[in-house]
Amino acid sequence: MPPSVIAALEAVFTVHRLWEIEDKQGFFADAGKRVRGMAASTLAGRIDGAQMDRLPALEIISSFGVGYDTIDAAAAAERGIVVTNTPGVLDDEVADLTIGLLLATLRQLPQADRFVREGRWPQGPFPLSPTLRGRRIGILGLGAIGKAIAHRLEAFGVEIAYHTRSPKDGVSYAYHDTLIGLAAASDVLIAIVPGGASTRHIVDAEVLAALGADGVFINVARGSVVDQPALIAALQAGTILAAGLDVYEDEPNVPEALIALPNVVLLPHLGSASVHTRAAMGQRVVDNLKAWFADGQPLTPVAETRHLVS
Ligand code: GLV
Repeated sequence: MPPSVIAALEAVFTVHRLWEIEDKQGFFADAGKRVRGMAASTLAGRIDGAQMDRLPALEIISSFGVGYDTIDAAAAAERGIVVTNTPGVLDDEVADLTIGLLLATLRQLPQADRFVREGRWPQGPFPLSPTLRGRRIGILGLGAIGKAIAHRLEAFGVEIAYHTRSPKDGVSYAYHDTLIGLAAASDVLIAIVPGGASTRHIVDAEVLAALGADGVFINVARGSVVDQPALIAALQAGTILAAGLDVYEDEPNVPEALIALPNVVLLPHLGSASVHTRAAMGQRVVDNLKAWFADGQPLTPVAETRHLVS
């Protein structure tokens, strides 16, 4: 969360910087009892019911990020705590990053950069890469970010198909009612579904096998969406061609086996990470808190807690 966000919060609220407080027990026993709102980064760790119970006056968790799989929203709803996230303001940024990662993976741009830096060019040309042209792209998840990715892909002259639980209205891309069907009909599979229990490990060994030996897997969703050991095995065995990953199961830890692979491009969860977009997300965190304490109408409550908003 950019420092400007914390400054914007401090202009309106009394802010306790929990990450700077050494005696957390002492905080929860004393000032914590009066804490009514929380601003939290999606990626700072799990917030479960037990943690909510340590803040008995808590009314709202304003989460920084669109995915809120690290917050137990059902537990929040049970306690009457509203959870908000930051949809909308990051869709284009994540979609741009996805296209960049897709091209980098197919055309092996980071590998080529290393080739130049290591002085290997004079000894002979960099190997030819696969192409994006004419590839069939399957998108797993067609929410706002998935649509923004598809919209950009239209300009590349590729076939676009998708899988979601049910077909989307007003969408002309080919729909597959199973993920395995989508993978079998795709050369590139892009994951952009929410994390959490319902999508855990849905990209498994079988889906990767269906993607095939020329297949490329791009994950800009959550590490939990893919069975990571199965992905590593498929990349090692060459049963898929390559992968571009922005997310991992145990961030910020990336398995050595992935790092050792030549046919993967690895990013440190950068989807929304531009100065502009992080500022917009931060503003949304602040605006949700301000709106809640002004009139009980936060801008973007998550589905599980929408009923708590008057
Ligand atoms: C980042 O991954 C987010 O969910 O906003």
